[in-house]
Amino acid sequence: MYYSADIGVIGGSGLYELSEDVKKIEVDTPYGKPSDDISLVKVGAKTVAFLPRHGREHTINPSEINYRANIYALKSLGVKAIISPCCVGSLRFDIKPGDFVVTDQFINMTSGRKDTFFEKPKVNHISSAHPYDQKLRVLAMESAKECGITAHFGGTVVVINGPRFSTVAESRMFAMMGADVVNMTQYPEGYLCLEQEIPVVNIALTTDYDAGLEDHPDIKPVTNEDVLRVLKENETKVKALIFKLIDKLEV
Ligand code: ADE
Repeated sequence: MYYSADIGVIGGSGLYELSEDVKKIEVDTPYGKPSDDISLVKVGAKTVAFLPRHGREHTINPSEINYRANIYALKSLGVKAIISPCCVGSLRFDIKPGDFVVTDQFINMTSGRKDTFFEKPKVNHISSAHPYDQKLRVLAMESAKECGITAHFGGTVVVINGPRFSTVAESRMFAMMGADVVNMTQYPEGYLCLEQEIPVVNIALTTDYDAGLEDHPDIKPVTNEDVLRVLKENETKVKALIFKLIDKLEV
């Protein structure tokens, strides 16, 4: 049986399903299995392929995700755009828990992840200067506005291995480097989309202030419970934004 889809959505923590009315398919790739079965969902006239990044029971750590298999699986379905929601910790007071950030840059601080399809004998080098697709970013921002969601247009996400959260010194260093938010999965996910020539947009939901902010001693370092609570509180908003964006995409 041959399956295809127009748009890929890679759900992060707290987003394990887009809808109940789905057809689940098992996809294999030359890089191994993706994080889980892929759900095919009809949204208007479009078919959306949904893949939970950590597996539907959240059993895969950020550094153990098979990013190449995930992107390759979506590519093999023919998706023309990928929406990559995730949660982030904020390194800036004005990016508050509950706010969304449509990031435009990443800084990779991960190590040991398989982060390229360009292996011998086909070594290649491509630009990652502007990793996220500008048109998709504008549409994501419009979608947020129309859903009444507070969103920041642009921002740099620094990506760490996890699963631990950062120390105060690391968090301070990330802010000094120019990062606005911190996350554990945007690298190499976003970059691998570039290698496969699939436009990608990251929609980051801020769940916390990372290790705290030094100018605001009252803000406590993040706990996993904080992240889960803010995710739960914003689940409806994340879905509304994604559905609005899917509606706007011309693919
Ligand atoms: N995801 C959500 N909050 C985070 C944080 N503070 N650090 C890394 N990843 C996160």
